[in-house]
Amino acid sequence: MMLADVFRASEFGREDFTTNERDTPLVLQFAANNYKDFSEAAEIVAPYVDGLDLNCGCPQKWAIKEGYGSYLLDKPEKVADMVRAVKNRVNIPCSIKIRKLNNPSDTIELVRRAEAANVDWITIHGRTKKQSSSEPVDMDIIKLVKQVATVPVIANGGVFTFEQASLLSQYTGVDAVMSARGLLQNPALFSGYDVTPLQCIKKFGIYQTKTIKSWSLPASKSSSSRVHQEKAKKEFQTWNIAALFGGLVSGSYLRDK
Ligand SMILES: Cc1cc2nc3c(=O)[nH]c(=O)nc-3n(C[C@H](O)[C@H](O)[C@H](O)COP(=O)(O)O)c2cc1C
Repeated sequence: MMLADVFRASEFGREDFTTNERDTPLVLQFAANNYKDFSEAAEIVAPYVDGLDLNCGCPQKWAIKEGYGSYLLDKPEKVADMVRAVKNRVNIPCSIKIRKLNNPSDTIELVRRAEAANVDWITIHGRTKKQSSSEPVDMDIIKLVKQVATVPVIANGGVFTFEQASLLSQYTGVDAVMSARGLLQNPALFSGYDVTPLQCIKKFGIYQTKTIKSWSLPASKSSSSRVHQEKAKKEFQTWNIAALFGGLVSGSYLRDK
Protein backbone atom coordinates (compact mmCIF):
# COMPACT_ATOMS: atom_id res chain seq x y z
CA MET A 1 0.00 0.00 0.00
CA MET A 2 1.25 3.45 -0.90
CA LEU A 3 -0.25 6.81 -0.03
CA ALA A 4 -1.65 8.35 -3.20
CA ASP A 5 -1.16 11.97 -2.10
CA VAL A 6 2.50 11.42 -1.23
CA PHE A 7 3.04 9.40 -4.41
CA ARG A 8 1.58 12.00 -6.74
CA ALA A 9 3.19 14.99 -5.02
CA SER A 10 6.89 14.46 -5.80
CA GLU A 11 9.56 12.13 -7.07
CA PHE A 12 10.75 11.83 -3.49
CA GLY A 13 7.31 10.48 -2.58
CA ARG A 14 7.62 7.77 -5.24
CA GLU A 15 11.00 6.47 -4.15
CA ASP A 16 9.58 3.51 -2.26
CA PHE A 17 8.06 2.15 -5.46
CA THR A 18 10.49 -0.02 -7.40
CA THR A 19 9.81 -2.68 -9.98
CA ASN A 20 11.45 -4.47 -12.90
CA GLU A 21 10.32 -6.14 -16.11
CA ARG A 22 9.91 -9.56 -14.46
CA ASP A 23 7.63 -8.15 -11.80
CA THR A 24 4.33 -8.92 -13.52
CA PRO A 25 1.39 -9.16 -13.11
CA LEU A 26 1.71 -6.35 -10.60
CA VAL A 27 -1.21 -4.62 -8.86
CA LEU A 28 -0.34 -1.54 -6.81
CA GLN A 29 -2.61 -0.69 -3.91
CA PHE A 30 -3.11 2.95 -2.96
CA ALA A 31 -4.55 4.45 0.17
CA ALA A 32 -6.44 7.56 -0.89
CA ASN A 33 -9.08 9.80 0.60
CA ASN A 34 -10.13 11.70 -2.53
CA TYR A 35 -10.50 11.01 -6.24
CA LYS A 36 -7.98 13.65 -7.32
CA ASP A 37 -5.02 12.13 -5.47
CA PHE A 38 -6.02 8.59 -6.46
CA SER A 39 -6.44 9.32 -10.16
CA GLU A 40 -3.30 11.49 -10.42
CA ALA A 41 -1.21 8.83 -8.68
CA ALA A 42 -2.82 6.21 -10.94
CA GLU A 43 -1.85 8.11 -14.07
CA ILE A 44 1.79 8.41 -12.98
CA VAL A 45 2.21 4.73 -12.14
CA ALA A 46 -0.02 3.19 -14.85
CA PRO A 47 2.83 2.49 -17.32
CA TYR A 48 4.61 0.33 -14.72
CA VAL A 49 1.74 -1.77 -13.30
CA ASP A 50 -0.98 -4.12 -14.52
CA GLY A 51 -3.69 -2.91 -12.17
CA LEU A 52 -4.59 -0.65 -9.26
CA ASP A 53 -6.41 -1.25 -6.01
CA LEU A 54 -8.01 1.11 -3.52
CA ASN A 55 -7.51 0.18 0.13
CA CYS A 56 -10.88 0.30 1.89
CA GLY A 57 -9.95 -2.03 4.73
CA CYS A 58 -7.00 -0.75 6.75
CA PRO A 59 -8.23 -0.59 10.37
CA GLN A 60 -5.25 1.29 11.83
CA LYS A 61 -6.04 4.43 13.82
CA TRP A 62 -3.73 6.71 11.84
CA ALA A 63 -5.35 5.63 8.57
CA ILE A 64 -8.92 6.14 9.78
CA LYS A 65 -7.95 9.57 11.16
CA GLU A 66 -6.68 10.57 7.71
CA GLY A 67 -9.79 9.25 5.95
CA TYR A 68 -8.02 6.20 4.47
CA GLY A 69 -8.74 2.47 4.51
CA SER A 70 -11.71 1.28 6.55
CA TYR A 71 -12.86 4.90 7.02
CA LEU A 72 -14.20 4.56 3.48
CA LEU A 73 -16.34 1.49 4.18
CA ASP A 74 -19.44 3.51 5.03
CA LYS A 75 -18.76 6.09 2.30
CA PRO A 76 -19.86 4.14 -0.82
CA GLU A 77 -20.33 7.27 -2.91
CA LYS A 78 -16.82 8.44 -2.20
CA VAL A 79 -15.39 5.03 -3.07
CA ALA A 80 -17.39 5.05 -6.31
CA ASP A 81 -16.13 8.55 -7.18
CA MET A 82 -12.55 7.42 -6.68
CA VAL A 83 -12.95 4.27 -8.79
CA ARG A 84 -14.76 6.23 -11.52
CA ALA A 85 -12.04 8.87 -11.65
CA VAL A 86 -9.32 6.25 -12.09
CA LYS A 87 -11.31 4.30 -14.70
CA ASN A 88 -11.81 7.53 -16.66
CA ARG A 89 -8.15 8.42 -16.51
CA VAL A 90 -6.17 5.21 -17.09
CA ASN A 91 -6.70 2.13 -19.16
CA ILE A 92 -5.82 -0.54 -16.61
CA PRO A 93 -8.05 -2.45 -14.18
CA CYS A 94 -9.02 -0.93 -10.85
CA SER A 95 -10.23 -2.99 -7.89
CA ILE A 96 -11.19 -2.29 -4.28
CA LYS A 97 -10.30 -4.26 -1.17
CA ILE A 98 -13.06 -4.02 1.42
CA ARG A 99 -14.10 -5.57 4.71
CA LYS A 100 -17.40 -6.89 5.91
CA LEU A 101 -19.60 -4.08 7.31
CA ASN A 102 -21.79 -4.62 10.38
CA ASN A 103 -24.87 -4.94 8.22
CA PRO A 104 -25.02 -7.20 5.11
CA SER A 105 -27.15 -4.62 3.25
CA ASP A 106 -24.44 -1.96 3.77
CA THR A 107 -21.82 -4.37 2.46
CA ILE A 108 -23.93 -5.02 -0.62
CA GLU A 109 -24.57 -1.30 -1.12
CA LEU A 110 -20.82 -0.68 -1.19
CA VAL A 111 -20.37 -3.46 -3.74
CA ARG A 112 -23.19 -2.17 -5.96
CA ARG A 113 -21.91 1.41 -5.93
CA ALA A 114 -18.42 0.27 -6.85
CA GLU A 115 -19.81 -1.85 -9.67
CA ALA A 116 -21.78 1.14 -10.98
CA ALA A 117 -18.43 2.96 -11.15
CA ASN A 118 -16.98 0.11 -13.26
CA VAL A 119 -14.78 -1.49 -10.65
CA ASP A 120 -13.00 -4.51 -12.14
CA TRP A 121 -13.03 -6.86 -9.15
CA ILE A 122 -13.63 -6.80 -5.42
CA THR A 123 -11.60 -8.39 -2.66
CA ILE A 124 -13.51 -8.87 0.58
CA HIS A 125 -12.01 -9.61 3.99
CA GLY A 126 -14.70 -11.38 6.01
CA ARG A 127 -14.10 -9.50 9.26
CA THR A 128 -15.32 -6.05 10.30
CA LYS A 129 -12.84 -3.26 10.98
CA LYS A 130 -13.37 -3.73 14.73
CA GLN A 131 -12.70 -7.48 14.71
CA SER A 132 -9.34 -8.91 15.61
CA SER A 133 -7.52 -11.02 13.03
CA SER A 134 -7.81 -14.01 15.39
CA GLU A 135 -11.61 -14.03 15.14
CA PRO A 136 -13.30 -16.37 12.65
CA VAL A 137 -14.04 -15.09 9.16
CA ASP A 138 -17.69 -14.68 8.12
CA MET A 139 -17.88 -16.92 5.07
CA ASP A 140 -21.59 -16.20 4.64
CA ILE A 141 -21.10 -12.50 3.87
CA ILE A 142 -18.43 -13.41 1.32
CA LYS A 143 -20.85 -15.91 -0.24
CA LEU A 144 -23.57 -13.25 -0.37
CA VAL A 145 -21.24 -10.74 -2.03
CA LYS A 146 -20.30 -13.35 -4.61
CA GLN A 147 -23.98 -14.08 -5.28
CA VAL A 148 -24.89 -10.44 -5.94
CA ALA A 149 -21.70 -9.19 -7.60
CA THR A 150 -21.33 -9.14 -11.37
CA VAL A 151 -17.54 -8.68 -11.21
CA PRO A 152 -15.05 -11.28 -9.93
CA VAL A 153 -14.82 -11.59 -6.14
CA ILE A 154 -11.74 -12.57 -4.14
CA ALA A 155 -12.22 -13.95 -0.61
CA ASN A 156 -9.79 -13.03 2.14
CA GLY A 157 -9.24 -13.91 5.76
CA GLY A 158 -8.05 -16.80 7.88
CA VAL A 159 -6.42 -18.89 5.16
CA PHE A 160 -3.32 -20.66 6.51
CA THR A 161 -3.50 -23.95 4.62
CA PHE A 162 -4.44 -25.16 1.15
CA GLU A 163 -7.39 -27.02 2.69
CA GLN A 164 -8.69 -23.80 4.24
CA ALA A 165 -8.33 -22.04 0.88
CA SER A 166 -10.27 -24.85 -0.85
CA LEU A 167 -12.99 -24.80 1.80
CA LEU A 168 -13.43 -21.01 1.54
CA SER A 169 -13.51 -21.23 -2.24
CA GLN A 170 -16.05 -24.07 -2.31
CA TYR A 171 -18.32 -22.61 0.37
CA THR A 172 -18.49 -19.10 -1.07
CA GLY A 173 -18.13 -19.84 -4.80
CA VAL A 174 -15.66 -16.97 -5.19
CA ASP A 175 -13.35 -16.52 -8.16
CA ALA A 176 -10.16 -16.53 -6.10
CA VAL A 177 -8.84 -16.71 -2.56
CA MET A 178 -6.23 -14.46 -0.99
CA SER A 179 -4.01 -15.21 1.99
CA ALA A 180 -1.78 -12.74 3.84
CA ARG A 181 -0.31 -14.10 7.09
CA GLY A 182 -0.50 -17.69 5.87
CA LEU A 183 1.58 -16.87 2.78
CA LEU A 184 4.16 -15.01 4.85
CA GLN A 185 4.65 -18.17 6.91
CA ASN A 186 4.49 -20.53 3.94
CA PRO A 187 4.93 -19.02 0.46
CA ALA A 188 4.21 -22.45 -1.11
CA LEU A 189 0.74 -22.60 0.50
CA PHE A 190 -1.18 -22.40 -2.77
CA SER A 191 0.85 -25.27 -4.23
CA GLY A 192 -0.55 -27.48 -1.49
CA TYR A 193 2.50 -27.64 0.78
CA ASP A 194 2.17 -27.39 4.57
CA VAL A 195 5.79 -26.28 4.79
CA THR A 196 7.70 -24.51 2.02
CA PRO A 197 10.09 -27.10 0.50
CA LEU A 198 13.80 -26.43 0.43
CA GLN A 199 13.74 -26.78 -3.38
CA CYS A 200 11.46 -23.75 -3.53
CA ILE A 201 13.75 -21.71 -1.31
CA LYS A 202 16.72 -22.64 -3.51
CA LYS A 203 14.75 -21.62 -6.61
CA PHE A 204 14.01 -18.28 -5.01
CA GLY A 205 17.74 -17.86 -4.32
CA ILE A 206 18.56 -18.50 -8.00
CA TYR A 207 15.81 -16.13 -9.12
CA GLN A 208 17.10 -13.52 -6.69
CA THR A 209 20.59 -13.74 -8.20
CA LYS A 210 19.25 -13.52 -11.77
CA THR A 211 17.04 -10.57 -10.91
CA ILE A 212 19.99 -8.69 -9.46
CA LYS A 213 21.81 -9.13 -12.76
CA SER A 214 18.86 -7.96 -14.81
CA TRP A 215 17.82 -5.20 -12.43
CA SER A 216 16.20 -2.45 -14.36
CA LEU A 217 13.97 0.29 -13.15
CA PRO A 218 12.28 3.14 -14.90
CA ALA A 219 15.13 5.57 -15.65
CA SER A 220 15.35 8.50 -13.33
CA LYS A 221 17.23 11.72 -13.81
CA SER A 222 17.02 12.73 -10.19
CA SER A 223 20.20 12.03 -8.24
CA SER A 224 18.21 11.36 -5.03
CA SER A 225 16.20 8.74 -6.86
CA ARG A 226 19.34 7.15 -8.30
CA VAL A 227 20.78 6.95 -4.80
CA HIS A 228 17.59 5.33 -3.60
CA GLN A 229 17.62 2.81 -6.46
CA GLU A 230 21.20 1.88 -5.62
CA LYS A 231 20.19 1.45 -1.98
CA ALA A 232 17.21 -0.72 -2.96
CA LYS A 233 19.47 -2.85 -5.17
CA LYS A 234 21.93 -3.34 -2.34
CA GLU A 235 19.18 -4.27 0.09
CA PHE A 236 17.82 -6.77 -2.41
CA GLN A 237 21.26 -8.35 -2.81
CA THR A 238 21.69 -8.78 0.91
CA TRP A 239 18.23 -10.09 1.75
CA ASN A 240 18.52 -12.99 4.11
CA ILE A 241 16.55 -15.74 2.39
CA ALA A 242 16.17 -17.65 5.65
CA ALA A 243 14.60 -14.59 7.29
CA LEU A 244 12.30 -14.12 4.31
CA PHE A 245 10.98 -17.61 4.74
CA GLY A 246 10.25 -17.14 8.42
CA GLY A 247 13.28 -19.09 9.60
CA LEU A 248 12.21 -22.28 7.84
CA VAL A 249 15.86 -23.03 7.30
CA SER A 250 18.92 -21.39 8.79
CA GLY A 251 21.18 -19.06 6.81
CA SER A 252 24.21 -21.28 7.45
CA TYR A 253 22.30 -24.31 6.13
CA LEU A 254 21.58 -22.47 2.89
CA ARG A 255 25.19 -21.32 2.55
CA ASP A 256 26.42 -24.90 3.07
CA LYS A 257 24.17 -26.09 0.24
C1 LIG B 1 2.12 -7.76 7.43
C2 LIG B 1 0.78 -7.42 6.85
C3 LIG B 1 0.67 -6.34 5.99
C4 LIG B 1 -0.57 -6.00 5.43
N1 LIG B 1 -0.65 -4.96 4.56
C5 LIG B 1 -1.82 -4.72 3.94
C6 LIG B 1 -1.91 -3.70 2.95
O1 LIG B 1 -0.94 -2.99 2.65
N2 LIG B 1 -3.12 -3.54 2.33
C7 LIG B 1 -4.21 -4.31 2.65
O2 LIG B 1 -5.28 -4.14 2.03
N3 LIG B 1 -4.15 -5.25 3.59
C8 LIG B 1 -2.99 -5.47 4.24
N4 LIG B 1 -2.93 -6.44 5.20
C9 LIG B 1 -4.16 -7.19 5.55
C10 LIG B 1 -4.25 -8.44 4.71
O3 LIG B 1 -4.32 -8.12 3.34
C11 LIG B 1 -5.47 -9.27 5.07
O4 LIG B 1 -6.65 -8.55 4.77
C12 LIG B 1 -5.54 -9.69 6.53
O5 LIG B 1 -4.25 -10.02 7.04
C13 LIG B 1 -6.47 -10.89 6.68
O6 LIG B 1 -6.00 -11.97 5.90
P1 LIG B 1 -5.23 -13.22 6.58
O7 LIG B 1 -6.17 -13.74 7.65
O8 LIG B 1 -4.98 -14.15 5.43
O9 LIG B 1 -3.95 -12.69 7.19
C14 LIG B 1 -1.72 -6.77 5.76
C15 LIG B 1 -1.59 -7.87 6.65
C16 LIG B 1 -0.36 -8.19 7.17
C17 LIG B 1 -0.26 -9.37 8.11
